[in-house]
Amino acid sequence: MIRTIEWKEDGVYIIDQTALPDELRIIRCEDHERIAEAIERMEIRGAPAIGVAAAMGVALAAKNCNNEHELPERLARAYKRLRSTRPTARNLFWALERMRKVWEEPLREGGNALKEKVIKEALAIAEEDIAVCKAIGKNGSALISDGDGVLTHCNAGALACVEHGTALGVIRTAYQEGKKFFVYSCETRPLLQGARLTAFELKYERIPFKLITDNMAAYIMKKGLVNKVIVGADLITRQGDVVNKIGTYGLAVLAKHHSIPFYVAAPLSTIDLNASPDGVTIEERAPSEVTHIRGVRIAPEGTEVLNPAFDLTPRQLVSAIITEKEVAYPPYDLSFLFRQGNN
Ligand code: MRU
Repeated sequence: MIRTIEWKEDGVYIIDQTALPDELRIIRCEDHERIAEAIERMEIRGAPAIGVAAAMGVALAAKNCNNEHELPERLARAYKRLRSTRPTARNLFWALERMRKVWEEPLREGGNALKEKVIKEALAIAEEDIAVCKAIGKNGSALISDGDGVLTHCNAGALACVEHGTALGVIRTAYQEGKKFFVYSCETRPLLQGARLTAFELKYERIPFKLITDNMAAYIMKKGLVNKVIVGADLITRQGDVVNKIGTYGLAVLAKHHSIPFYVAAPLSTIDLNASPDGVTIEERAPSEVTHIRGVRIAPEGTEVLNPAFDLTPRQLVSAIITEKEVAYPPYDLSFLFRQGNN
């Protein structure tokens, strides 16, 4: 089983995703600054995993503070630093707000009580993520049938969460339930999360799959090899617009053209009821990610580049949204998912 992030006595341990698939390298983070750097360098990535890492970053700030009176200020500093790491994934801000509530709540007990509460909350966020992914897997698996060809994009797997995954969690659960289907993983340029990470996970689990380059999707859909698309999300609006890895929108348009259902799997913590499609910040990343592949230059020196990391798939192209609570269908008003004591 792959566990992406773990809290231990002497620090937070994460799998270095920049080293995969060649090397299973583990990084020990001793303070919130190292966690912030890990998120920025994409040593840990994927919306839920970023959220959990940030929560654990705040918990490290608590653990490392030996002066009770300085603790709230230290936590606020860690919170601010971690908020600045990546701009798009809703789960990052969701997890940090949940942490902030812990130290903003009045406390009757003194001593180490606040420190312990902060650490406990971060660990709860991590444990809940596992349970949530398993529930998403179970709900989504009902949509997968024997004989399916399922296309996925980027990595929405165990490596993007604590364990199991969201879109890949659905695939994992369906496979564990004995369903016989085939997976196509898009390589996902520029950073190749599909080739490096999703292929790594599928191979590890022995789930039958083939890797394709991003520009092969239309061809294999036309050939009838794909009858379902399932992806994760970095942010979902109340009305069901989906922000996810660049290229997702193109796949949704292709799926529509070929009458293939387009599913999105994500926890409720990815839904931002206040976000509007035009108001989402789309991360722009370094030009070198496009001009180079794993350090090797592939474009002429000085080539100008566009490098948006995410795109927005309009709600009209989304066939269903698979959450831990239930599968939501259009027309979307996802606020109903929060009404019965969720989040
Ligand atoms: O830039 P990344 O690798 O963090 O982008 C990840 C994605 O776009 C995933 O599909 C998304 O975060 C969902 S992960 C369960």
